[in-house]
Amino acid sequence: MSLLVLGSGPGIGRSVATLFASKRYNNVVLIARRAEQLEEEKKAVLNTVSSQINVRTYAVDVTHTHSLLQALDDADAAFGKPDVVFYNAARVLPSALLTHPVEDVEYDFKINVSALYIISQRYIPHLVSLARADTSSRPALIVTSSALPHHPIPQLFNLSLVKAAQRNLVQSLNLSYTPEGVHIGVINVAGQVAPEDEVRNPTRIAAKTWEWFQGAKDKPNFEVMI
Ligand SMILES: NC(=O)c1ccc[n+]([C@@H]2O[C@H](COP(=O)([O-])OP(=O)(O)OC[C@H]3O[C@@H](n4cnc5c(N)ncnc54)[C@H](OP(=O)(O)O)[C@@H]3O)[C@@H](O)[C@H]2O)c1
Repeated sequence: MSLLVLGSGPGIGRSVATLFASKRYNNVVLIARRAEQLEEEKKAVLNTVSSQINVRTYAVDVTHTHSLLQALDDADAAFGKPDVVFYNAARVLPSALLTHPVEDVEYDFKINVSALYIISQRYIPHLVSLARADTSSRPALIVTSSALPHHPIPQLFNLSLVKAAQRNLVQSLNLSYTPEGVHIGVINVAGQVAPEDEVRNPTRIAAKTWEWFQGAKDKPNFEVMI
């Protein structure tokens, strides 16, 4: 079974990839822009998971649609299409209202919304077919979010607005495809992530994500707040 992680990095991306791989998925695809960092992410998964596991990495910017789709063609040919898509790509950066360049607003919209839309177009029909073919399957699209869609922070206005748009897209997907058996929802991380934070550390966030994902079969729930 395959897990696709878009936005593989040392924080939530790593903790979710390693936990999900150790629980259920023996094929893991990691996507982010920096090849060197991806090697670290691959090592982290291989070192943490004791069972036999295959990891492929692709250094791709998710906003470069052609390169993204090429990478996914390669990954799908190797592992088959994913059973779970974990969409975690984002730039968590400050943005000053009125002076932040509009090009950056548009770039972040592409990362959080346009690329997620492309991914949904590509994989939701497959996830629906998995759900139809096998009632014990757990097809899912999981997206990391935050409290920003409901509570924008002016110093982070850009991330706030693209996360609001992203949540809206995921809500539409959830309303349309959760009744078809695909678990679609958001992990809301309501504050800064830090390894030393008791509540919002990557390990705990991954554990909460797994718990929420596990419970979804009997009781689908659009979101979890951490
Ligand atoms: N960090 C926080 O304090 C915090 C708080 C609340 C919510 N969140 C949410 O959590 C998610 C991220 O988790 P994280 O902050 O712990 O980060 P992470 O999992 O450590 O890494 C996310 C990775 O996404 C990749 N990425 C960014 N832009 C990309 C692009 N255009 N194409 C491909 N990959 C891209 C980056 O790698 P490259 O640079 O190599 O591309 C980055 O390392 C986001 O949805 C964020 O909104 C984070």
